[in-house]
Formats: sequence, structure tokens, C-alpha cells
Amino acid sequence: MDLTYDSIAEAYQRLAVPLVFLRPAKDLLDALKSAPDADILDVGAGTGVTAQAIESIKGFKGKLVELDISLQMLKASHSSNSVSKVVGQVPGLPFCDKSFDAVMANFVLSHVLKYKEAITDMVRVLKPVGRIGISAWGSEKHQYSDLWDKTSESFVSKELIENIVSEFMPSREIFTNPENTRELLRAAGAREIEIHKSEAVVSTTKVDYIAMKSVMLQGRFIKSTIGEKGWSEFLAKLTKNFDAKFSDPIEYTSRAHLVVGSKP
Ligand SMILES: C[S@@+](CC[C@H](N)C(=O)[O-])C[C@H]1O[C@@H](n2cnc3c(N)ncnc32)[C@H](O)[C@@H]1O
Repeated sequence: MDLTYDSIAEAYQRLAVPLVFLRPAKDLLDALKSAPDADILDVGAGTGVTAQAIESIKGFKGKLVELDISLQMLKASHSSNSVSKVVGQVPGLPFCDKSFDAVMANFVLSHVLKYKEAITDMVRVLKPVGRIGISAWGSEKHQYSDLWDKTSESFVSKELIENIVSEFMPSREIFTNPENTRELLRAAGAREIEIHKSEAVVSTTKVDYIAMKSVMLQGRFIKSTIGEKGWSEFLAKLTKNFDAKFSDPIEYTSRAHLVVGSKP
């Protein structure tokens, strides 16, 4: 069962990035206050959302390095030729100490079992007075995610879904609370730690919302568990349930928290 990001890179870039990942990437870059000539490392860069967001730094002429464990995610990135792409993982960053002015991880560390080592490694590759930023989602739900969950639980048990989420995102609970991230950054030697909020109103169609959820972890897991026929039935039921309760466009507020700090 391939639940990695490899198989969904193109759909992730097309559906999930514009709907929910671009806004927090922009906000995290703002919170890092990088100079236009900064060397920035984006850990778990995915399909290059930071490269898209960096266009908002006026006159940026620094260096951006995108690192990801998934070659397919990096391949789906449309970032310009000036962006370096590296297949690698955290912990175990393939860079010398004190290489970057800023290091960021957008919605990545929840996937990492050795998250303490990961943060220590990110601080290691920062130059003195360099800035580190970590973002994660909160635990909030909304009526659309509730309806997705309710429908999916009539096809695959809630327990099975929760087990797979814990396996694939072993540190999700930790990073849901920004105070934990603050404490982890402090323990890794960062100082001047601040917590920021990133909020955006997501406005989309029911079809695009369901398509986006389908490529996320729960969707991939449900599909691989119930097979093609079951998946068609699931989508039909989901569409019926959504049509019975909601009309287009559907809107909700997506909320993330951003924790930033400095290396002394
Ligand atoms: C939710 S996506 C976020 C991608 C991107 N940062 C964004 O905001 O769109 C998580 C990314 O982390 C990558 N990833 C997971 N574990 C990793 C690790 N240990 N080291 C580096 N990348 C990792 C995945 O391949 C995936 O591209």
C-alpha cells in the first residue's frame, strides 16, 4: 500500500497547494523576516509552495534550497531554475553546520518520528542569528470535514483510519499544540520564540473539496482499503451527502500556527 506522497504529487500541487498550503507558507516566510539576499532551506518542501510564496519577498535574490524525502514531490515543483532541489530527510540534513540564514518546515514534522533530532538538526544548519520556522495545523474541525469523516467511517472503521494516521503522522498530536513546538525549539537552543497564527478563508466547490480530501492521507488509505469498486461507491455516497446538505461555494476558515525562533 503506497501511502507516501510519491503517488499524489501532481494532484497535491494542483488541488491542495492553492486551497490550503500557500497562505501559511506566505505567512511563515513573513514571520521569518528574511532579507532579500537570504539563504533559505525549506525542509519537506513538497511541490515547491515556498518557492511560489517567495515571490512575495520584494526583490528576492537569495538562495532557496528545497529538500524533500519524496523525489516525485520535488519533480512536481515548478520552481525556477535558481531553486536547488535535494532529495533527503530530516533528521540527517546533508548540509554543513551554519549554512543557512533561515530554515523552515511547513506541515512536515508531524510526519517525523524523531522530531526532537529533526529540530536539533535544523538548528545545526542555521547560521548564528538565523531564523527557524515550523508550521502545523491545529485540531479544529468543520462541518465539511465532519461530513467526510462520518461518510468514510461507514466504509472503513474509525479505529483503522486513526491507526493509519498515527502510523503515517506519528508526531501529529505533538505539533497540534504550538506550546509543544515552542518548548522543543527552546530545548534545541533557539531563542526569541514567537507563536503566530495563519488563517485563511477557503472558498471552493464541493467537487474540488472532495477531490482534495481524496488525495490526502485518509482518502488514499480508504481507496487502497476498499478497492476501485468500493471507492466509486464511497464517492457516490459522499457526493449525495454533500449535495443534500451544502451548496456551492463551500467556505471555511483554515487555521494553522507558526512557531518561529532565532539561533543565538
Ligand atoms: C504535507 S506535505 C507539505 C509540503 C510543503 N511543505 C507544503 O507546505 O506544501 C509534507 C511533506 O513532507 C515530506 N516529508 C515527510 N517526512 C519527511 C522527512 N523526514 N524529511 C523530509 N521530508 C519529509 C513529504 O514527502 C511531503 O512532501
